Amino acid sequence: MKRRALLGAGAAAVAATGLGWSLLTPKRPGKLLRSRAPLPKPFEARLAVPPVLNGDEIVQREADLRILPGLTTRAWTYNGSFPGPTVVTRSGRAATVTHRNQLPEPVVVHLHGGHTPPGSDGYPIDEILPEHGPGGAHPHHDMAAMSGDTSMGSRVYRYPMTQRAATLWYHDHRMGFTGPAVYRGLAGFHLVRDDEEDALPLPRGERELPLMLTDRAFEADGSFRYPVGDAAYMNGVLGDVVLVNGRPWPVHDVDPARYRLRFLNASNARRYRLELDPQPPGGDAFVQIGSDGGLLRRPIGHDALVIAPAERFDVVVDFSRWRPGTEVRLVDRDGGDVMRFDVKGSRRDDDSTVPAQLSRTAEPLPPPVRTRTFRFNQGSDGTWRINDLEYRPGRALARPRLGDVEHWRFVTDFHHPIHLHLNHFQVVSRNAQAIGAYDHGWKDTVDLRASEAVEVAVRFTDYPGTFMLHCHNLEHEDMAMMADFVVEPP
Ligand code: C2O
Ligand code: CU
Repeated sequence: MKRRALLGAGAAAVAATGLGWSLLTPKRPGKLLRSRAPLPKPFEARLAVPPVLNGDEIVQREADLRILPGLTTRAWTYNGSFPGPTVVTRSGRAATVTHRNQLPEPVVVHLHGGHTPPGSDGYPIDEILPEHGPGGAHPHHDMAAMSGDTSMGSRVYRYPMTQRAATLWYHDHRMGFTGPAVYRGLAGFHLVRDDEEDALPLPRGERELPLMLTDRAFEADGSFRYPVGDAAYMNGVLGDVVLVNGRPWPVHDVDPARYRLRFLNASNARRYRLELDPQPPGGDAFVQIGSDGGLLRRPIGHDALVIAPAERFDVVVDFSRWRPGTEVRLVDRDGGDVMRFDVKGSRRDDDSTVPAQLSRTAEPLPPPVRTRTFRFNQGSDGTWRINDLEYRPGRALARPRLGDVEHWRFVTDFHHPIHLHLNHFQVVSRNAQAIGAYDHGWKDTVDLRASEAVEVAVRFTDYPGTFMLHCHNLEHEDMAMMADFVVEPP
């Protein structure tokens, strides 16, 4: 079996053109795909909060969702909903999640931001085959290609949860097919809680909202429109409808009080510059309390949040800063509307605050034992590469030793959100200067822009074995911008 066939159908299409691909590379990642269905009106749908997982089993199956007025969307779902059910776990308490695959194609589940041993990390060829057998209609499926740890029908993922409270998420990670699988609906929140966070007087209950941002395009019949195999979209797929928790440009009524908003950008390729409009008097609409890896040491005020694919920003917004009756739009300054918060005059009771000291567990890491450089660029055949190599399972680009602190430098001529499995890292410099406004705290994904060099510090802990480093623009990821790294025992 040729390696090419392992990639998404797009890879073959690009290779077939034989063009000097970089000539076609635009300045911004992604290309807008327009819906064939009539677009819904903004601010008519109500925001929904995904259900919390009851028990420890998730069935992956097709479901008909109501996203657009008058149409249904056949989606791939976790337990029938999009986003999937929110998994809530406790730091220090081991958890298992059993995934059953009733979809027509193999799947792989990755807990993004999870500090997870290799056997449960969702290595891209460790597939769960369909419960009802692969059948005859699955040309991509070829046993000869599968050197992974394959399961039949279901798989138990074991999560030790020896990590601090944070906004994690789980999503499909199948080699060459992550983009279409996530686009069809395979994404959900996983919230880790701990005592340190529980002791803080942050907004909770109805005033704590996980918000998953995704952009999608729709076919005339309401189904998701994804350009499988279309080389024009190899820079990333951008949809023309923004969904928040699966609802198009929704609206949510809020009290004039503080809310904790846990933003996740689960879009395939879109990067957002989020602002609240109107801005509150005095600015700093968003008070950031956490990043990908949990609480910051101290809160940071922002007028805007730039959020690349896979990043999370945990913020507090105090809606008592607007007059009751104000419609506060959440907008993407690089795009358009996202959602709206309607400040209603009713319940002002609010005993939450944002303490000046949030966490003591975000101390800087000690100096590194070595520094490695990873270049993210595009080959002349259109594939996306790391250090001039396309992804190949089993070929490690780095072999750090367990317990070591290393600095990893990411450099590029384009825009890529770079993600590391296993451990959270700290950004130590951007272009050899101070870190950016959105680089604070523990992170697992860093926004790398054209001609930038970002250096991060990471300590490899607890689990030797094979993990991933990759671009989280899902079309880039599917087009081979991934690498293995192997953590060696000490
Ligand atoms: Cu969110 Cu390796 O992925
Ligand atoms: Cu990329």
